[in-house]
Amino acid sequence: MAESMKGLHRTCRCAEVTEAMTGTSITLMGWVQKARNKGGIVFVDLRDRSGIMQLIFENGSVSQEDFDKAGKLRSEFVIAVTGVVEKRGGEANANLATGTIELRVNTLRVLSEADVPPFPVEENSRTKDEIRLKYRYLDLRRPDLQKNIMMRSRIAMLTRQFFASEGFLEIETPMLGKSTPEGARDYLVPSRVHPGCFYGLPQSPQLYKQLLMCSGYDRYIQIARCFRDEDLRADRQPEFTQIDMELSFVDVDDVIDVNERYLAFLFKEVLDVDVKLPIERITWQEAMDRFGSDKPDMRFGMELHDVSDIVKGCGFGVFTGALENGGSVRGINAKGQGGMGRKQIDKLVEFARGYGAKGLAYIAIAPDGTRKSSFAKFMTEEEMDALVKAMEGENGDLLLFAADRTKLVYDVLGALRLEMAKQMDLLDKNEYRFVWVTEFPLLEWSEEENRFTAMHHPFTMLMEEDLPLLDTDPGKVRAKAYDIVLNGNEIGGGSVRIHQDDIQERMFEALGFTKEAAHEQFGFLLDAFRYGVPPHAGLAYGLDRLVMLMAKVDTIRDVIAFPKVKDASCLMTKSPSVVDEKQLSELCLKVDLKEEKTEE
Ligand code: AMO
Ligand code: AMP
Repeated sequence: MAESMKGLHRTCRCAEVTEAMTGTSITLMGWVQKARNKGGIVFVDLRDRSGIMQLIFENGSVSQEDFDKAGKLRSEFVIAVTGVVEKRGGEANANLATGTIELRVNTLRVLSEADVPPFPVEENSRTKDEIRLKYRYLDLRRPDLQKNIMMRSRIAMLTRQFFASEGFLEIETPMLGKSTPEGARDYLVPSRVHPGCFYGLPQSPQLYKQLLMCSGYDRYIQIARCFRDEDLRADRQPEFTQIDMELSFVDVDDVIDVNERYLAFLFKEVLDVDVKLPIERITWQEAMDRFGSDKPDMRFGMELHDVSDIVKGCGFGVFTGALENGGSVRGINAKGQGGMGRKQIDKLVEFARGYGAKGLAYIAIAPDGTRKSSFAKFMTEEEMDALVKAMEGENGDLLLFAADRTKLVYDVLGALRLEMAKQMDLLDKNEYRFVWVTEFPLLEWSEEENRFTAMHHPFTMLMEEDLPLLDTDPGKVRAKAYDIVLNGNEIGGGSVRIHQDDIQERMFEALGFTKEAAHEQFGFLLDAFRYGVPPHAGLAYGLDRLVMLMAKVDTIRDVIAFPKVKDASCLMTKSPSVVDEKQLSELCLKVDLKEEKTEE
C-alpha cells in the first residue's frame, strides 16, 4: 500500500549525511537497496543517487505499526524515513561513505511498493545488455550508470561555464532543417503542410554555425543533438551530442589554443588530471606513417617501420610484388611476444585478414635468439639480419609485416598495433594522452562515386601553399583541418573554413559539382557569403565519446540515458514502430515494403 509524504520533507540525500550530524533529526527518501529482518531489529540500506545510508528500525524506537511495515520492506520499495543520526552500533563499513553512521528511524512511510525487479539494481551488473536496455529505467538506477550520467551533466555545465567565460554565445540552431553534408545518411522528417517535402535532421549544425559567423556573432557554442543514419558501433549512436563551436577572425592556432585550455580546465575539474599543454601536434601523414591510423593511441609505442627499402631486392615474392605494384612493406615489433605459439600467431593472421590483408608475415625471435618465420625460406641470412635490424628486433620479439597497397598496410598494422597492445595489457584507462592530428588531406578519392569527395566537408579551407595542387594533383592537397584525439579515439574535429568565393568555387569544381548543383544544395550559404563574411573556423567534440573516456567505460551507451542498440532501435519504447494509416495519409505517405523472402 502506498502512502503519501504527509508533511515530511527530505532534508538531505543519503550520502550527504556525515558524522558531524550525529544526534540530529533528519528525513531521507529513497529506494530500499536491501532489507534484513533480524527479529526485534530491521536493517535497511537506503539508496538514492548520492549513495547509501544504513537505517535501523528497532522495536520501541519506532511505533509498532511502522516496525511491522519495516519488516515487510523489500528491494526497490520507495520509502521516507525520519530519524536520528547515530554512530554505528555494529562494525563500520569501509566501502560506504556513510559507513560509520546509521539512522535510527522513528517514522516510516512506504511511498511505493515494488515488484521484484528483473535484475538486481547493483554496481557491475552482469545482466545481459538486452534486458538492461529493455528496463533502462531500472538500469539507470545502478550506481555506476548514475555516476556516468551525473558526470555527463557536470561536464556539460563546466563546458558552458568555460566557453561563456571566453566570450562564446550559446545559440540554438534548428532540428528541422535542410540536410547537412557531413557524409552520412540523413534522417528525414516528412512535412504535412508541404506534402512530398522533407526536413533533414541535422548531422551537425555546420551550415547554421557558419551563417551565425556571417551574422556577426563572433563566437558560438552549442551543445547540439546530431543525427546520422550510419552503422552503429561502440562509439557511434544514430543520435548523439556535439559540443559545437565556431569562431570568427581566427586561424588554426586560435581554435587549438582555446580548446587546449578548455580540455585542461575540464580534466582538472572533473578528474583532477593535469593535461600537459601545449598538446602534441602531428600531421596526418606522420600519424599514418608512425601509427597506421589518423587517431593514434599514443599511450604506447610499437610504431610502424617502413622496411620497403630493406626488402626491395629480396627473394620473397609477396614483398617484392607489393612494391612493384606501388605499395609498401611495413612492420611492427611486438616486444617480448616472440615466444607466441603457432596457434596464436595464426589468430593474428586471421585478424589481419579481417582488415583486408592477404596475409601476415612474421619473424618470431625466441629468447635464445632462434628465429621462426613464415618467409625465411625465401630470404638469405643477410637479408633476414638486415630486416630484423631495421625493425630493432631483439631476442624475444615478434615482428609482424604487411605488404600491400600502402593504405591497406596502414589499416592492417594500425589495427594490429592496437590488438597487440590489448593482448599485452599496455592500455591504461587512467592515463590520458591527447594529440592533435593536423593537415588532413582535403580530398579523398571515392571508388564508388568515381570522383574526389571532401574528407571533412566542402567548406574546409586548404593550406595556402597547396592551392596550385588543387588543379594538378588534388589528392595531395592538405586541409586546414584538425582532429583532437584522446587515447586512440577521435573526440573532436574541425577546420578553418573557406571564406573566399574564388577558392570555394575551385573546391566545388574539384569535387565535381556544377555551379548549379552547388547552388541547389548550399545556395543560402553561398549567398550569405556575398554579403560580407568573416574568416572563420570551428570544431565539434563528440560529447558522448568525451564522457565515455572520462568515465572510463567502453561504450557510449553507458553515458547516454536512453541509447539505441546496434540496429538503431530502442528496446524499451520499441521504436521505431509502424504508425497509423491515418498519420501516413495526413502526410501523403505510402509505405511500400519490398516483400522479404522468408526461408522455410
Ligand atoms: P565530425 O563529423 O568530425 O565533425 O563530428 C565531430 C565529432 O562528433 C563525434 N561523432 C559521433 N559521436 C557519436 N556517434 C556518432 N555517430 C558520431 N559521429 C561523430 C566525433 C567527432 O569527432 N561539423 C563538423 C565539425 C566542424 O567542422 O566544426 C563535424 O560534425 O567525436
Ligand atoms: P604465401 O607464399 O602466400 O604462402 O605466403 C607466405 C607468408 O606470407 C604467409 O605467412 C602469409 O601469411 C604471408 N603473406 C601473404 N600475403 C602477405 C601480405 N600481403 N603481407 C604480408 N604477409 C603476407
